[in-house]
Amino acid sequence: MADIESLLKESRTFKPESDFTRQANWNKKKTNEYRKLGETNPTKFWAQMAKQNVSWFTPWKKVLDWKPPFAKWFVGGKTNVSYNCLDRHLEGENSWRKNKAAIIWEGEPGDTRILTYSELHREVCKFANVLKSQGVKKGDRVCLYMPMVPELAIAMLACTRIGAPHSIVFGGFSADALRDRINDAEAKLVVTADGGYRKGAPFALKATVDKAVENTPSIESVVVVERTKQPIEFRTGRDIWWHEAMAEASTKCAPAKLDAEHPLFILYTSGTTGNPKGILHTTGGYLTHVTTTFKAIFDIKDDDVYWCTADIGWITGHSYVVYGPLAAGATTVMYEGTPTHPGPDRWWDLIEKWGVSIFYTAPTAIRTFIRLGDEHPKSHDLSSLRLLGSVGEPINPEAWMWYHRVIGGKRCPIVDTWWQTETGGIMISSIPGAVDTKPGSATKPFPGIEADIFDEEGNTVKGDAGGFLVLKHPWPGMLRGIWRDPKRFKETYWGTYDKTYFAGDGAHRDKNGYFWIMGRIDDVMNVSGHRIGTMEVESALVSSPDVAEAAVVGRPDEITGTAIVAFVSPKGTTTPDDALVGRLKQHVTKEIGAIARPTEIRFTNALPKTRSGKIMRRLLRDIASGKEVAGDTSTLEDFSVLAKLRESDED
Ligand code: WT7
Repeated sequence: MADIESLLKESRTFKPESDFTRQANWNKKKTNEYRKLGETNPTKFWAQMAKQNVSWFTPWKKVLDWKPPFAKWFVGGKTNVSYNCLDRHLEGENSWRKNKAAIIWEGEPGDTRILTYSELHREVCKFANVLKSQGVKKGDRVCLYMPMVPELAIAMLACTRIGAPHSIVFGGFSADALRDRINDAEAKLVVTADGGYRKGAPFALKATVDKAVENTPSIESVVVVERTKQPIEFRTGRDIWWHEAMAEASTKCAPAKLDAEHPLFILYTSGTTGNPKGILHTTGGYLTHVTTTFKAIFDIKDDDVYWCTADIGWITGHSYVVYGPLAAGATTVMYEGTPTHPGPDRWWDLIEKWGVSIFYTAPTAIRTFIRLGDEHPKSHDLSSLRLLGSVGEPINPEAWMWYHRVIGGKRCPIVDTWWQTETGGIMISSIPGAVDTKPGSATKPFPGIEADIFDEEGNTVKGDAGGFLVLKHPWPGMLRGIWRDPKRFKETYWGTYDKTYFAGDGAHRDKNGYFWIMGRIDDVMNVSGHRIGTMEVESALVSSPDVAEAAVVGRPDEITGTAIVAFVSPKGTTTPDDALVGRLKQHVTKEIGAIARPTEIRFTNALPKTRSGKIMRRLLRDIASGKEVAGDTSTLEDFSVLAKLRESDED
């Protein structure tokens, strides 16, 4: 709880500038009205938002059907996400958007592409027809394992056009991780690319897919985007070049009229135990949630250039690179590569070059740039910026102040947005023209969102106090379940408190009702804003022939938020040396992906355990963060004494 102590010393408050307030989509008055409505009648508030922000083919009969923990929103309503993101910007009073840039894309090598709304519409229709020609039908799952190229957004929208739920797997995941996700979703088709660019060099994707699909019985075809032109193996009969299939495809494809609760996508995320969970999101509620929050929180105007730096493989990219911005008719920037390539000023160069006015990124990136030095942002004209956002983990007040001063030139409001893969869209955030901000606080729940802080017994904590973050009323973007696992859905999110969603985060509410998120309270690590289960890294480690047992914990890290530390007991015949460290890091990278690669591996004869056999993570966490890294990795740490000392109070 030391985190809270330091955060609470933060007392600076920033009022929105009057210049900003005057032009804001949601000013104080409007925000307060919506807050009031959201408090007294959340379904009425969301129904209003669904009418304002989403186009429907058939109106709903019932706003909310809530049989805890199962919610249905806009029951009986019919709509289509790709229709909302594309067609409606080409019609009637919006038809001037036809030639507005929908996506401004820049590749890492510096190549660029701009897709207008009508071009994007054409490409999406074509790819929807390609999917159909490959036998993909409404309800079939499509896996997207791609670099950050426009084809990824095109493929997503094409899936939504025909009602085929997509499952995007972040391009950094390994063949095994990809295979497991494909099998869990029983995807019929994978879209990939030969590769992509990162850190100045091409990386391979198709080779990983080839390996994964050796053991995925459901996959019938693999569509390959040509991006890097690196040599790949091509299996005739199964593999199809994107450009060849697209050349023959018709540009006409009517959007399917889908039920509001039709599955839109599955996205896998880490939990405390077992395999990753396939978080399921559906059509009408999700679209309402992301579009409404996007317009209100990012204050989008038709002449804005909006850039969210997240990879589309994570929920932030789904909701706030693609769906929210396009549904709002905005111009969204997509950048393929590493933030620091070819130089540490690449992002600032992009902001200047494209005139980015709204910028949304993660604290881990901000901290990296702080370390790289102010001269890089200062060497660029960032005056186009007018609003900044943060997401993924708590932003420490120092990073907030730097973001405000150096990037925002002290004139841009900052929206610190708390949400999760499961919530679909932003839940707690400042509204930039209406809410005073405090560095490090996500401020207050969005209207229509009933967030609270509970103690262990499920009582609301009173006054200036901390506890467990919960959501007491269903919201439109809420996950509808875990793919094929309703039992786990109930246990994970609804098993702690009655009819209340348990977010797994600790939080504190100050005397002004501001929320301060303290981070995960379970065994899930937040590494660079992404959740990684300790269990997954442990299973990867023990799948190595050298490892008898492993325990993984997070240690605070200045840049990434959390660094992964693994305690490993090697098998009897294995020598615990530096070579083994290298092998094991490589092994985890292969099993899960580089994102889960341990920063540090420490060897031990035995892991400290309670009498009931539970690993004493708290102890390991202390050791991981307290002690200096031993230069000589061959020293085995012996926890047996410590373990005995702790036995009595850990059971
Ligand atoms: C977890 C969700 C949703 C976007 C990316 C991560 C942490 C997220 C904040 C924030 C403090 C935050 C929480 C949350 N988190 N945003 N603004 N302040 N913590 O999605 O992988 O589902 O992780 O990220 O711990 O539970 P995710």
